[in-house]
Amino acid sequence: MSTAADAPPALREPRLVPLHALAAGIDFGRYFRWRHERDGDPFLVRFPGFGSVVFTGTPEGARELFRAPAELLQPPLPNPIEPMVGPASLILSRGTKHRQDRALLAPAFHRSRISAYGNVIRTAARAELAGERTGAAWRPGTRIDARAAARAITLRVILAAVFGIEESRRRDEYTTATTEFLNSFGGALFLVPALRRNLYGLSGWQRFTAARDRFDELIDGEIRRRRAHGDNGTDILGLLLDTRYDDGSPITECDLREQLRTLLVAGHETTATALVWALYRLHRDPETLARLRAELDTAGPDPDPLDLVKLPNLDAVCQETLRLHPPVPIVLRRLTGDFELRGIRLRAGDTMGVALPLLHADPAVWPEPRRFRPERFLERRYGPFEFAPYGGGHRRCVGATLADYELRIVLATIIGTVRLRLSPRFARGRMPLTVPHNIATGPHAAITFDVLEP
Ligand code: HEM
Repeated sequence: MSTAADAPPALREPRLVPLHALAAGIDFGRYFRWRHERDGDPFLVRFPGFGSVVFTGTPEGARELFRAPAELLQPPLPNPIEPMVGPASLILSRGTKHRQDRALLAPAFHRSRISAYGNVIRTAARAELAGERTGAAWRPGTRIDARAAARAITLRVILAAVFGIEESRRRDEYTTATTEFLNSFGGALFLVPALRRNLYGLSGWQRFTAARDRFDELIDGEIRRRRAHGDNGTDILGLLLDTRYDDGSPITECDLREQLRTLLVAGHETTATALVWALYRLHRDPETLARLRAELDTAGPDPDPLDLVKLPNLDAVCQETLRLHPPVPIVLRRLTGDFELRGIRLRAGDTMGVALPLLHADPAVWPEPRRFRPERFLERRYGPFEFAPYGGGHRRCVGATLADYELRIVLATIIGTVRLRLSPRFARGRMPLTVPHNIATGPHAAITFDVLEP
């Protein structure tokens, strides 16, 4: 029989929930730090409309959560991104379906395949530098909106890698359709499910569903085209069309559409945000920037993209950026049975999560945790429960290798080609706050750079 002394400790219930939500909405990182300092690890956060989450921000907690038996875990539902990706999405599926779909998708993202995209990634970065999107090349005197540039590059990479789109007319068609689809779902629609309804053809929801339908039509047309030619192609779409589940059956068209939308949604803004933060951090730290430039110089004038991904300083800069600014800052699991997280007993239906900004700032692991110091990644290796920008366990990001390649190759191409200076407003003073951007979080303001004489 258990006694009061044996009973697991209880978590402090936040009172004045709307004020907590407001504080978290204004400065998510600071709110989490405050709760962690005040309530210890783990702690309970209430998200109005989406329920409560028990968060850990320590390596011990991350180890327990990532190592929990897969059959005890589901993604949390309702999930604000469900209308974008669809219920069959890998992000939302569970149990056997998740395992089977992951087995189907993961080979397309294996390192051996992703390494084939090195040139595609560099071409995307060079096209942006040449001004293909805006009509204005990155010449001295030009001002660059880093988020718009980074999004254009990562979208072009996804379109080439997933759909094989490299020809300019088709790329324009896809870029318009995907941008309308991605931009039409945000803000209030994202957070308030009650707004997702039709209203005489005028509502934001109808604009969004129409944009989603147009995007799906494009995908359906592409699949028909490939089938008619008897050639599925060598890109990720082609691989998915060729692959079979263990029982020999192919993926259904509806599921395929939702997985393709998932890849677009999960792989675009996330990588773009990390690029923006990397550029921002580097240009606030002239010594690190100079070290990186020196390293890029040793790689020669036109290095093979696959050699770039091996450069140690470049690697350290990308890791340190993901440590300080994880684009997906919380990793959540919903329990289907009893589980204990850091000594707290949880039940079926409870949701637990890792708060990556806390995990990545644990002073026991990271000396001077708030300082941008990429060298720390040259001095020590960090374990998967200490550094987890791509989550962990059976749901770890399937696109992590592609994202790592993109970050390194795009950053090297930009830094190796032009000299930039943060616009005066960003060069000094407070760091921009981090706010939600669809599936990712990113700087609240459009960070701009001025192009300098070489
Ligand atoms: C810097 C860029 C990226 C970051 C920081 C990131 C981060 C994450 C995180 C934290 C998760 C949740 C993992 C978990 O629950 O344990 C995730 C899942 C996922 N990511 Fe990424 N991601 C990035 C880029 C990409 C790219 C490029 C793709 C594909 C094109 C992608 C596709 C996915 C998918 C499909 C999932 C769901 C995996 C599953 O539930 O099995 N991500 N990502």
